[in-house]
Amino acid sequence: MPAVIVLGAQWGDEGKGKATDQLGQNTDYVVKFNGGNNAGHTVVIDGEKYALHLLPAGILSEGVTPIIGNGVVVDIEVMFQEIDEMASRGVDCSRLKVSSNAHIIPSYNRLMDQANERARGKNQIGTTGRGIGPTYADKMNRIGIRIQDLFDPEGLAEKVEAALAPKNEIFAAVGMETLNPEVVTEELLAYADRIRPMMCDVSLEVNEALDRGDTVLFEGGQATMLDIDHGTYPFVTSSNPTAGGALTGAGVGPTRIDRVIGVAKAYTTRVGEGPFPTELDDKVGEALRVKGGEFGVTTGRARRTGWFDAVVVRYATRINGLTDICLTKLDVLSGYPSIPVCVAYEIDGVRTEEMPLDQAGFAKAVPVYEELPGWDEDISGCRTFEELPVNAQAYIARLEELSKCRIQSIGVGPGREATIVRYPLI
Ligand code: GDP
Ligand code: IMO
Ligand code: MG
Repeated sequence: MPAVIVLGAQWGDEGKGKATDQLGQNTDYVVKFNGGNNAGHTVVIDGEKYALHLLPAGILSEGVTPIIGNGVVVDIEVMFQEIDEMASRGVDCSRLKVSSNAHIIPSYNRLMDQANERARGKNQIGTTGRGIGPTYADKMNRIGIRIQDLFDPEGLAEKVEAALAPKNEIFAAVGMETLNPEVVTEELLAYADRIRPMMCDVSLEVNEALDRGDTVLFEGGQATMLDIDHGTYPFVTSSNPTAGGALTGAGVGPTRIDRVIGVAKAYTTRVGEGPFPTELDDKVGEALRVKGGEFGVTTGRARRTGWFDAVVVRYATRINGLTDICLTKLDVLSGYPSIPVCVAYEIDGVRTEEMPLDQAGFAKAVPVYEELPGWDEDISGCRTFEELPVNAQAYIARLEELSKCRIQSIGVGPGREATIVRYPLI
């Protein structure tokens, strides 16, 4: 299976890092296609934990070429910090490549992120504050700064000046410090020499790899419900973490893709603001948060927790054309006498099994639950489907039915080895 997209089927933090790492062991290239250092992907190898933000999880697999695609927004300072940190832990980062078309997050866009959030007051999105939204806004507004601009100092100075001027007006108006365009330009130019040998044409690289019969994995950041088009707008990120984003974010055509894998937790979490129908805003939710270790990798924020929402995952199956689901964290659900699963919503007293047409409706959605029998056993040592308690097997079978997609693997712990693989993907 040469071309595989791995993406989030819920609101993020589903375990994409672990899934990518696992598949990455049989892969030649791992390409990130969207987002930036708002992502936090955790991989645990032999008990050692790696938290990746900008770098593709494939960096941890020997023989893999990791690439940062054109659809990613790159905070260069953060990227080199992450490279240095990984290198100090013995990870070979010399193979990392970066698209020359990827946009850069200049320091002013981190400040703009803060200014925007402040201006929204009680309607805050709860962004990660990494400058993601303002950088994608500049990209669409055609005033963005790209990696290739670092090699044309005069042009860069002009571009920075044009992009920064309107932002300085906003900073001044809200009492924030303004920035000097020359200083910003110098900050960016300081990385030019180090980044030059990493630059690549990601589309050419990936398509040639596929022509040779190599395996390419496209690793998504964020998730379907955070997608700028298909998510819970405006409580979303500013990119397309869905399957279409992998195509534009890496320069590949849809006819080349063989598998689209959605990663989903056996329950649901969300960080930041926005509607979340199955949220457990009570002691049960708090216990699930503690049991599942649901605290953000990037910002350390407590994640909101709730039961599995099959309307959401079924929607993700449709939006992305999922071929398979990697279900994670089933081990966290051991010990409940019964487990509610949301099969539909009631909106103003009317039952719907699909995502409503409008966000006002979604904000009012009341989950319709089906209670599935739980299990008490610790399942973290299970390595085959048959070893799982029968009720856990039935839980999986029902989720598969409701999600309209087969479940390829089941996570039973954070470690690389703690997975039940039902059939090989690559
Ligand atoms: P990502 O952003 O989608 O890569 O997910 P995160 O790394 O932000 O969050 C997932 C968390 O769950 C990490 O701490 C993983 O180590 C952990 N994890 C992944 N799969 C499993 C699993 O099957 N069981 C348990 N207990 N933890 C898991
Ligand atoms: P991974 O890849 C979970 C959320 C933020 C906020 C919204 C917008 O680890 O799954 P942004 O900084 O992107 O403008 O914030 O999106 N968010 C994530 N939530 N996992 C992520 O990444 C996220 N990246 C952004 O909390 O609600
Ligand atoms: Mg994460």
